[in-house]
Amino acid sequence: MKPRVLVTRALPSSVMQRLSAACDVDRAEGGGGLSHDEIVTRVAGKQALLSMVTDVVDRPVIEAGTSLRIIANVAVGYNNIDVAAAGERGIVVTNTPDVLTDATADFTLALILAVTRRLGEGERLVRRAGWQGWAFDQLLGMQLRGRQLGIVGLGRIGKAVAARASAFGMTVAHTSRSGDGMPLDRLLATSDIVSLHVPLTPETRHLIGQPELARMKRSAYLINTTRGPVVDEEALAWALRSRLIAGAALDVYEREPVVHPELLALENVVLAPHLGSATTDTRTAMADLAVSNVIAVLGDQAPLTPVS
Ligand code: DGY
Repeated sequence: MKPRVLVTRALPSSVMQRLSAACDVDRAEGGGGLSHDEIVTRVAGKQALLSMVTDVVDRPVIEAGTSLRIIANVAVGYNNIDVAAAGERGIVVTNTPDVLTDATADFTLALILAVTRRLGEGERLVRRAGWQGWAFDQLLGMQLRGRQLGIVGLGRIGKAVAARASAFGMTVAHTSRSGDGMPLDRLLATSDIVSLHVPLTPETRHLIGQPELARMKRSAYLINTTRGPVVDEEALAWALRSRLIAGAALDVYEREPVVHPELLALENVVLAPHLGSATTDTRTAMADLAVSNVIAVLGDQAPLTPVS
C-alpha cells in the first residue's frame, strides 16, 4: 500500500504527478487552501503533510497526525510550524532553502528601486489621471550608486541581495550572528537603505521597533521581505507618518493578509502581497523540493533539507 500524504494547497501538475506516483494523495481542491480545522481532520492517518507558509502547523495538527513522519513546508521560513512539538513525536520537518534565493533577492531589489524611485506614487498618479506631463522636479528619488545598504542577516538571501546591490554601485554593510558584521545600532545609524533578512524567531520578533527606527537616518528607507513580525508595524506607521525615515517597502506583514490601515493611506511606503519567491520557476522548484523530501523520508532515506 502506498503511503498517504495530505497536500494543503494545489501544486503544479508536474509536481503532483511525481508525488502521486509514490504516494496516495489527499489534496485541497480548487484555488484555496485547507483551513486549520480541515487540516486537523484530514491529517489523521497521513504519513506526510505538505504545508504552505500560510498553514499554522501547531500542536493540535501534530497531535491529530498520529501517523506523520514528515512535515514538508513549501517555504524556506518555517515559523508557521511548531518544530519542537514535531520533534517530540519524531516527525522530520523540512523547508525549501536555496531554490528561492535568486527570486527573493531579485524582488528585494525591485522593492528598493520602487521605493527609492517613487514608482508606486508615480503609478498611482498616472492611473488617477493626475499626471500633467514631464516636470523637472517631479517625484525626485534617491540614486543608489555610492549609498550604503545595511543588510540585517547575511544568510543566503542577504548575500544574494548584497551581490546585486554591489552591481548597482552601493556599498554594503551587514550584521551577522557570528559577530563579524556591524552592530545593529551602527548599521541603522549609517545605512541609506536597511534590508531585513533574518528569520522570524522569538529573538527577532519586533527587532525593528520605535527605538531602532529613531536611530535610522531621516533620509533612509526600510525594506522587509522576510517576515512581518520582525517589524513593529505600529511603530513603522508612526515613523513613516512623522517622516522620521524617508520610506519603506514591505512584502510581508504582521497579520497577513491584513495590512495596518495607516500604511495603506501613506504615500511613502510600497506594499506588495508576499511575492518574494513568486516566479513560476521558483514556486515549481520549491514544490518539487518539498516532494523530494517527502519521497526520501517515506522511503527511509535522509531528508534533503531538514530544518535543523
Ligand atoms: C518563504 O519561502 O519563506 C516565503 O516567504 C514563501 O514564499
